[in-house]
Amino acid sequence: MLTAITRAVSPSLNRCELGYLPRQEIDIAQAVVQHQGYEDCLRALGASVVSLAAEPDFPDAVFVEDPAVVVDEVAVIARLGAASRRGEADSLARALARFRPLRTLREPATLEGGDVLRIGATLFVGLSARTNQEGIRQLTAEVTPLGYSVVPVEVRGCLHLKTACCYAGDGTILANRAWFDTAPFRDYRILDVAPEEPRAANVLAIGDTVVIPECFPATARVLERLGRNVRTLDVSELMKAEAGLTCSSLLFET
Ligand code: GLY
Repeated sequence: MLTAITRAVSPSLNRCELGYLPRQEIDIAQAVVQHQGYEDCLRALGASVVSLAAEPDFPDAVFVEDPAVVVDEVAVIARLGAASRRGEADSLARALARFRPLRTLREPATLEGGDVLRIGATLFVGLSARTNQEGIRQLTAEVTPLGYSVVPVEVRGCLHLKTACCYAGDGTILANRAWFDTAPFRDYRILDVAPEEPRAANVLAIGDTVVIPECFPATARVLERLGRNVRTLDVSELMKAEAGLTCSSLLFET
């Protein structure tokens, strides 16, 4: 069964980390409603949602994708690139221990799950402001013996690899080519986001459905023309915290 770990929105979300966006006031009550809509969407797409309590001391803790990389055999607890976020990993690790044996990355590694794009047995890992070479090296050491290959990808001008590109199913990567090196994806079809929607590449593909923020209608039409079932969600308040759709859940089979 598809399991999704999520975490309630922190009341301190307005103190979130920001790398590439100007700070705007976030309406916390509205962010909570939008996050509940996101969890409902995951349930509608067949996921069993395990919702963790908010972490008031960690503004970004709702973005549970970042402190861990879950593969079929293990969960690798990351050492986040944003020092203010490192404490998020403890309670997430306790939740993940119910589902997978844990492995842990050590200093000087930094790595965030938003930089890890898994397609089958390949993990494309962004070399970004948040993920360093040592993080990629330690992740590689953990997962290569399990049959995965790790492919580093240079990221520039955005927070994470999955800000720049995501798998949209059917051999297709939805992408903003300005923000990453496309060469490692030479075996995939690259579908460009609409030029007026540079942040639209972060989509969540579950089964035959691709979920995209409702503020990206032109890119939604691009996906529809590809023949994908497209669902839209309003996550506008969460996006002010530099969130994408993938970062608010950790998805894995149980
Ligand atoms: N606010 C998301 C992050 O910077 O980690």
